[in-house]
Amino acid sequence: MKLKIRDMKTKTEHLVIQVSLKLVLISLLLFLFSSVAISQQSAGFTSFKPGGEWLAEDGVHIDCHGGNIIYVESLKTYYWYGEHRGQPRGASCYSSKDLYNWRKEGVVLEKGDIQTFERPKVIYDEINKRYVMWFHYDGNNYTIAELGIAVSDSPTGPFIIKDHYRPNGHESRDIGMYFDPGTKKAYIGYAADHTNLTIRMVELSSDYLSITSNDVDIKAHCEGPGILKKGGIFYLLTSGCSGWTPNPATYYTAPDIMGPYTDQGHPFTGDAGNNSFNSQPCYIFKIPGYKDAYLYMGDRWNGGGRPDSQYVFLPITITEDGKMELHWYNEWDLSIFTPERTRPAR
Ligand code: GAL
Repeated sequence: MKLKIRDMKTKTEHLVIQVSLKLVLISLLLFLFSSVAISQQSAGFTSFKPGGEWLAEDGVHIDCHGGNIIYVESLKTYYWYGEHRGQPRGASCYSSKDLYNWRKEGVVLEKGDIQTFERPKVIYDEINKRYVMWFHYDGNNYTIAELGIAVSDSPTGPFIIKDHYRPNGHESRDIGMYFDPGTKKAYIGYAADHTNLTIRMVELSSDYLSITSNDVDIKAHCEGPGILKKGGIFYLLTSGCSGWTPNPATYYTAPDIMGPYTDQGHPFTGDAGNNSFNSQPCYIFKIPGYKDAYLYMGDRWNGGGRPDSQYVFLPITITEDGKMELHWYNEWDLSIFTPERTRPAR
């Protein structure tokens, strides 16, 4: 009996040793796997490097062009939408807590058989808890020239296409969007008739799902419209019209979003190449939590609009005498702006 008990003890001891060895092995493997995963992720960014290589958290180039950024207060998250120019073509979405480091949320709308899908702009409808995407819907030759609209219940899609049409009968190609936080109204500025010889501004319905008849020719010109408002003045920034090749941008000012707009010339200061620091505007994002923090979002298409096109993100300055200026920085961060008293939590 004594012997049997000793045998059992030895067996148990062997079992414990075996299990422990297995656990050590599993932990080692897990550690190795996680190290590989970490080494494939991008390093934590703490600044913007305009025109530089910008990787998402998965270590892959961010593929999100011609779009916009929104901040969803309830989720304390920034969402960046844009053209996914790799496969599948459509709209991509990335999320971030700090504007420097982005996680790919995926392709939130696949363009399917739409020939040209460009410049998506998303707005969050706080009342109906819906995300509404407007985009440039077109054919290969840019002669259809329509606005498209898609909707999702979640910021990360999927967005379902609801409609596409010419706004109030006008051609519509490159689009910009402006959301007025005071009135909660939203507007689309669109490169319009006679193949972008005019820009029109149209007010959206209160649920952002349709356009209204408040739609005017704002006597501005060309493409890539971005809009900001400071001290009761509206600033409209537009590129010239030279396809994927960058050109000098122009800005206009107006006392009302619907105009009249006055041409104020080129805002890119020290722009040796006379090409908006080799970029084309796509949006101006007012960064919440900082005073007058206007983020210029520009695309560096490299003459081709490829998936690996870079981004030129720069701060926009409105000077004491009301001029818009953009200066070049090889690297910059949000400390350039003055924080407001309440900042969104990180
Ligand atoms: C640009 C426009 C882009 C794209 C390109 C095609 O002028 O801003 O969004 O349409 O032309 O050539």
